[in-house]
Amino acid sequence: MSELLRVVNLKKYFYTKTGFFGKKEVIKAVDNVSFIVKEGETLGIVGESGSGKTTLGKCLLRLVEPTSGEIYFRDVNILKLDRKELKKIRRNMQIIFQNPYSSLDPRMKIGKIIEEPLKIHGVSVSERSKRVYELLDLVGLPRSFTRRYPHMLSGGQRQRVAIARALALNPKIIIADEPTSALDVSIQAQILNLLKELQKIYGLTYIYISHDMGTIRYMSSRIAVMYYGKIVELGNKKEVFDSPFHPYTIELLQSVPVPNPRKRKIKNLKDISYEKFVAVNNDGGCIYYLRCPFANSRCKDMKVELRELEKGHFVACLRAKGNYTRQIKLSTE
Ligand SMILES: Nc1ncnc2c1ncn2[C@@H]1O[C@H](COP(=O)(O)OP(=O)(O)OP(=O)(O)O)[C@@H](O)[C@H]1O
Ligand SMILES: [Mg+2]
Repeated sequence: MSELLRVVNLKKYFYTKTGFFGKKEVIKAVDNVSFIVKEGETLGIVGESGSGKTTLGKCLLRLVEPTSGEIYFRDVNILKLDRKELKKIRRNMQIIFQNPYSSLDPRMKIGKIIEEPLKIHGVSVSERSKRVYELLDLVGLPRSFTRRYPHMLSGGQRQRVAIARALALNPKIIIADEPTSALDVSIQAQILNLLKELQKIYGLTYIYISHDMGTIRYMSSRIAVMYYGKIVELGNKKEVFDSPFHPYTIELLQSVPVPNPRKRKIKNLKDISYEKFVAVNNDGGCIYYLRCPFANSRCKDMKVELRELEKGHFVACLRAKGNYTRQIKLSTE
C-alpha cells in the first residue's frame, strides 16, 4: 500500500487567558504528532474527551491552522499551500463531523447541501443534479429528500447526507470524526457499515476518530492512541488490542465494559486534576506519569518519545522495554 498522508511533528497550541488576572495558559491540543496513512486503510484515532482528536482532524484539512509541523498529501506539503492550491487539494480530503444536528445548515435544502461542494469546485449545473441523485442512491436515501430541510430528517438520515456531501467530489481520504456518537446504537451500526461499504467500492482511505474502543476495533486497520495531545501508542489493530504496550491503552481497553469487573487486572487507576497534569506536562516528563500504575521516578523527568518496539508498533513509554505490559493478561476479551 502506498503512502497517502504523512504528518510530521504536528503541533496545535491554543493560547488562552484564564482567571481574574488573565494568566496565560497554553493548551497543547496536538503536541508533536507524527504518523502516516496508507492508501485504502483506516487509521483509527482513539482517546478520551479533550485528547485533541478533533483538533488533529481539523488541522489535517487546515480548518484550524497548525502551530507548526508538516502535513504531506502524497508529496505536497499542505501547510505550504496558498488558498487557491489548498482549495484544489481539498477535493481529495473531506471531513464528516461528530454531530449531524449542527453540521448541516438548517436553512438549506438537502439537495443544495449535497450540491454545495460541487458548485464551489465549478461542476456544471446539469452534472450537479445528476451527481446529487447518484449520491443519494449511494447513501441509501430517497431522491425526494433533495427538497427537504435537515430538521425534517432523523439523525441517521442526516449523517447519510453528510456522507453524501463528503463523497461528492470523489475524495481520496475522509476524516470521520465520531460520525456516530450522536446516534442511537442500531443506527450507529448502519452508518459504520455504510462507510465500510463505500470504502470497498471506492478504495477510500479513512481516518476514523472515536473515544469508543468498540467502534475503533470494528473500523480500523491500524490504531493511534492519543493522550493529551500526544500519540502514546501506534500499531496494527491486532497488536494494539491483543498486546498493548502503553498503560493508557490498557486502561482504555479495560474501560470497555466487562461482565465481571473483578476480572480486571489493573485496579485503582489514579485520576488526576487538570492543573496537576499541566504542571507535569510543562516539566517535560511523561504525560501519563500521574495516572500510571507503573510509573517510577525516571518517568517524571525524562523526555518520552514514541519508539518502535516491534515492527510497526510504536509506544511512548520508558518502561515498555521488555514484555512487562504483556504479562498483564487483559480480561476484556
Ligand atoms: N478553539 C479553541 N481554543 C482553545 N482551546 C481549544 C480550542 N479547541 C479545542 N481546544 C482545547 O483543545 C483540547 C483538545 O480538544 P479537542 O476538541 O480536539 O478534543 P477531542 O479529543 O476531540 O475531544 P472530544 O472527544 O470531547 O470530542 C481541549 O483541551 C480543548 O479544550
Ligand atoms: Mg472531538
